[in-house]
Amino acid sequence: MIVALDHIAIAVPDLDKSISRFLEDFGLNYEGLESVTAAKTSTAFFPIDGTSIELVHPLDGEGPLVGYLEKYGPGLHHICFRTDDIDADVARLKDKGYQFLTDEPSFGAHGTRVIFIHPRSCDGVLIELNEVVNDE
Ligand code: CO
Repeated sequence: MIVALDHIAIAVPDLDKSISRFLEDFGLNYEGLESVTAAKTSTAFFPIDGTSIELVHPLDGEGPLVGYLEKYGPGLHHICFRTDDIDADVARLKDKGYQFLTDEPSFGAHGTRVIFIHPRSCDGVLIELNEVVNDE
């Protein structure tokens, strides 16, 4: 079951510049950088009032975000819903005909399992589902 809006992600070409915008100009709390090797992204999280802003950037200049930024430029990348049972929600949505970018969830930032629903199934919006599996 979907239980929260976990985060909203923005694809950024200059991570340091965008971090200083959210940290210094907007005054948000900065939780730090995390490398997500499965997705080849470098992510910066700014928690605010039960959700977070996530900045996503290619990890070491590689991965799918490189092509994404070349094709679409910087901007809103995805929204993420937190679920309390990702396997059940994936099965339920597959039954309804939703298409996913991968067959199975993989490991995401902050001890989560994540999977992305294809934008063509959601009015052009890339939607991530995550479940916290390691609440440290
Ligand atoms: Co995300």
